[in-house]
Amino acid sequence: MDLFEHQAKELFAEYGIPVPRGIVAHTAEEARAAAETLTGRVVVKAQVKTGGRGKAGGVKLADGPDDAYEKAQQILGMDIKGHTVRKVLVEEASQIAEEYYFSFLLDRANRTFLSICSAAGGMDIEEVARQTPEKVAKVPIDPLTGVDRAKAREIAIAGGLPERALDGAVDIIEKLWAVFVDEDATLVEVNPMILTVDGAVRAIDGKVTLDDNALFRQPDHQKYVDKAAEDPLEARAKELDLNYVKLDGSVGIIGNGAGLVMSTLDVVAYAGESFPGQPKPANFLDIGGGASAEVMANGLQIILSDPSVKSVFVNVFGGITACDAVANGIVSAFKLLESRGEAVTRPLVVRLDGNNAALGRKILTDAALPGVELVDTMDEAAKRAAELAAVGA
Ligand SMILES: Nc1ncnc2c1ncn2[C@@H]1O[C@H](COP(=O)(O)OP(=O)(O)OP(=O)(O)O)[C@@H](O)[C@H]1O
Ligand SMILES: [Mg+2]
Repeated sequence: MDLFEHQAKELFAEYGIPVPRGIVAHTAEEARAAAETLTGRVVVKAQVKTGGRGKAGGVKLADGPDDAYEKAQQILGMDIKGHTVRKVLVEEASQIAEEYYFSFLLDRANRTFLSICSAAGGMDIEEVARQTPEKVAKVPIDPLTGVDRAKAREIAIAGGLPERALDGAVDIIEKLWAVFVDEDATLVEVNPMILTVDGAVRAIDGKVTLDDNALFRQPDHQKYVDKAAEDPLEARAKELDLNYVKLDGSVGIIGNGAGLVMSTLDVVAYAGESFPGQPKPANFLDIGGGASAEVMANGLQIILSDPSVKSVFVNVFGGITACDAVANGIVSAFKLLESRGEAVTRPLVVRLDGNNAALGRKILTDAALPGVELVDTMDEAAKRAAELAAVGA
């Protein structure tokens, strides 16, 4: 779960990290009032959970309340990489002398934590890393010893931070480590960490990703869950305990086992390339091992409530749950959906293989469900589902 910049900064402030004073505004009027409260020059910043706001025109300096009103009006409602700006952070403008980059993150590839630090921070850090990788220090963190003052100093020096900024930066780095560990974060990033003209070091931007798997021991984090931003289908699927991820295509996918579903997505995307409109998978949905009628019905219901879905591919490999059980699940799911007034109206391609496949196929053939086709192999079934989606589009 990603936090908004203002939430990240509020969290930083709780840990004693110096951040500019700021107020969140949802309207231009509120932005004006915020600027009045803060006095002096302010910065109006789009609050969206994506990077590159500054470059997109989502960060603007304002001279005073009226200007803050103007700037907020320009920024609110703006689209930044598909994210609509619904609120801005109005904060006091810092007088920046230098901009640095700092982050802690989970380095999955190397199974450790990593700190990244550079004296060449600011908006173009990605470019700096590409052109002059030697300017970006990557220092691994031993999870058992963590980050104390000495380690923080080592990282800051490795990043090339100048002597004049060291004490302030070290203090912030130590505290960011506390945020990272105590809040179960997988990323804390400050870009830029600045040195002001009067020698103070501050966090000017903040990006925090919290580990959703730690939610059970971080009840406080519930307040960050952004219900409005959640995809409604994904939210509904979560309530039903389904592993569902919405994608952009038109072929609904149901499978058992995450690995099988992942490869189904690939096969369908590949098959789709030979049909008009190049249909792609509409979702990821793993119904897991025990595909009961109810789980199948819920899965189908979620998928079919997505209006972009033109066909559905049910790809099941019978293991512990045998194919006859899955077939019975599909038959009962059709009845269940019909009784809920949501009869299945789009074509379904079913591939059953593995344990008791023959019996499973017989059950489906005998049931003669409307719009259901059985196809023996995964490749052929993917092709047929893509074809049906192309026809239905
Ligand atoms: N409070 C502030 N006072 C002065 N300048 C600021 C302030 N906040 C931001 N800036 C300037 O604007 C630049 C961009 O701000 P910020 O880093 O918050 O957004 P961004 O980097 O574009 O967003 P993202 O990190 O999401 O890509 C900063 O590098 C800094 O130069
Ligand atoms: Mg930034």
